[in-house]
Amino acid sequence: MAENKIYEKVENCVKAIREVTDFVPRVAITLGSGLGNYANQIDVKCEIPYSKIPGFPVSTVPGHDGKFIFGYVGEVPVVCMKGRVHYYEGYDITDVVLPTRVMKMLGAKILFLTNASGGINYNFEAGDLMLMTDHISIFAPNPLIGANIDELGTRFPDMSEVYDKDLRQIIIDTAIENKIPLKMGVYAQLTGPSFESPAEIKALRTMGVDAVGMSTVVEAIAANHMGMKICAVSCISNLAAGMGDPLSHEDVQKAADKTGPLFEKLVTECVKKF
Ligand code: HPA
Repeated sequence: MAENKIYEKVENCVKAIREVTDFVPRVAITLGSGLGNYANQIDVKCEIPYSKIPGFPVSTVPGHDGKFIFGYVGEVPVVCMKGRVHYYEGYDITDVVLPTRVMKMLGAKILFLTNASGGINYNFEAGDLMLMTDHISIFAPNPLIGANIDELGTRFPDMSEVYDKDLRQIIIDTAIENKIPLKMGVYAQLTGPSFESPAEIKALRTMGVDAVGMSTVVEAIAANHMGMKICAVSCISNLAAGMGDPLSHEDVQKAADKTGPLFEKLVTECVKKF
């Protein structure tokens, strides 16, 4: 058993899952707002509620109820996270990335991250889908702080191409083939839970941020540390603070749900090619 407590927790979760299923996924998909019904796209073989996995972080946000869904998208074996925890819920950042580490240890080679975000780029509209080309992580705690887990990866991992070029090209081609409009840009993760102020949005735009949210980047860093191939698509659920109406979680959820069918189509058609 590992000496590192964080790694030991990951191993225990993997062990608990392996007592239920021997399913080996190729692609791990983390479902954000708007993809709540994604299970409909999966030939489901097994579901495991997070609450059945000892030590596994369980979300406190309404609409983020959590379970792993194992099954096939086309011929591709996937594990889907329906619901994820966020740092603003009060979890240690290592717990926020624990599920990502678990999915890698179950066999996943590719990670497809999704989320909802506020659009900062003036060319974006609510309802747009944005392929993440890069990220800004400096406003969120780094999930790799602490003793390095050598079993997972190196102390100082390179982050010069977190979002895999080949996967990005597949997503671009698939969007074109299916006539799904797709924007591209840089996503910044802030901690939340408060939405940003207009001055913060202006500052982020100056820094080169196209969309802002409260998830995804820490997961991408942990996955990159472990050598996973990563891609991410964000649903621009609203224009960021100061660019439109005042923000509410309910409106964000509603807008993301509206884009849901298109988002589902894009994810499904891409994963079939992964
Ligand atoms: N800001 C931060 N997170 C978000 C937003 C936003 O405007 N919309 C959806 N998630």
